[in-house]
Amino acid sequence: MSATVGEFRPPARLLLGPGPSEVHPRVLRAMSAPLLGHLDPAFIAMMEEVKALLRMVFGTANDLTIPISGTGSAGMEACLVNLLEPGDAFVVGVNGVFGTRMAEVAERAGARVVRVEAPWGQIIRAEQIEAALENCERPKLVALVHAETSTGAWQPLADAARLARAHGALFLVDCVTSLGGVPVDVDATGIDAAYSGTQKCLSCPPGLSPVTFGPRAVEVLTRRKTRVQSWYLDLSLLAKYWGEERVYHHTAPISMNYALREALRLVDEEGLPARYKRHALHHRALAAGLGAMGLSLASQEGHRLPMLNAVAVPDGVAEDKVRICLLERHGIEIGAGLGPMKGKVWRIGLMGESSRRASVLLVLSALEQALQAQGRALAAGAGLAAAAGVYES
Ligand SMILES: Cc1ncc(COP(=O)(O)O)c(C=O)c1O
Repeated sequence: MSATVGEFRPPARLLLGPGPSEVHPRVLRAMSAPLLGHLDPAFIAMMEEVKALLRMVFGTANDLTIPISGTGSAGMEACLVNLLEPGDAFVVGVNGVFGTRMAEVAERAGARVVRVEAPWGQIIRAEQIEAALENCERPKLVALVHAETSTGAWQPLADAARLARAHGALFLVDCVTSLGGVPVDVDATGIDAAYSGTQKCLSCPPGLSPVTFGPRAVEVLTRRKTRVQSWYLDLSLLAKYWGEERVYHHTAPISMNYALREALRLVDEEGLPARYKRHALHHRALAAGLGAMGLSLASQEGHRLPMLNAVAVPDGVAEDKVRICLLERHGIEIGAGLGPMKGKVWRIGLMGESSRRASVLLVLSALEQALQAQGRALAAGAGLAAAAGVYES
């Protein structure tokens, strides 16, 4: 490579897509601190703080609460390959990209996968889960995606937790997008295992996947008949590094752990109830603004996530042109639709640091201009006025 490759200077962007979200300068600063060795006593002390802060945000007393090295999908895979053995029955809600992904990972692990499906944008109903469990021989694990980032649907968990337990199965939750934005409350909800990601409502760069395993899940790990198919994600090995033994497994991503610790400290300083309230407020303001511009949300009414807003693209509007206009003219990233929603929705994320009044007002005004450029007749400032109304009420 020649010296013509210069320093990389990312263009200024406001990240309002499905993740990563904006990152607080304190988190970026923490990442640039000098490295420690992964067995240095100072790093080990820091690991304990990360675990304690993760327990706080998950709402759990689970001892086995650690960040997996890798993005959210690594946490997903870690949970599935550790809890399932070949031939085990796995009941999974599939109503978007991430339930689909869980089913695929479990199939690769040799599980018997029972898909409980709902149209994209809708939630999985408790009766569907009950019926699947009743028709399933010895269900081992039930899993749902709490915040389906591909559709904006907010999945209720309590009934599924109860049903899983009544049928002798464990309950696993994907809270990649929900953690830190809406209550997850692992222990109070009756969740046996959960995984998340750093780059959504925790507002940390992508790179770690917090997981938590409760006592019933740990018991399943210890009673396995077969070895976990993935050496890298084998929780019994990882627990020896993150637990008291401190046995080397793989080199921990040092700077990412600094970043996560700082991001979690910010969550703690704000307080979870205030953080949830903030996410709800900015979602309400955005939804009011979109409504005043004649735009509607595509996910099921009453089950809409505050941090991920799937906006239906109006007829006659080129979805990609609007998105590209926002990026190139306004420096704002929003997401495109995936799968059956490709070309039909924009996904506006208001996650963590991105969930701010300024984000809402900027994206509404940029959308107004982009839609007008497509020939849509819009009353100037109507979206902004409606959003301002929510803030002033
Ligand atoms: C709900 C959900 N689950 C899992 C993932 C996978 O996470 P990652 O892309 O960090 O591997 C994502 C990523 O967007 C997600 O939104």
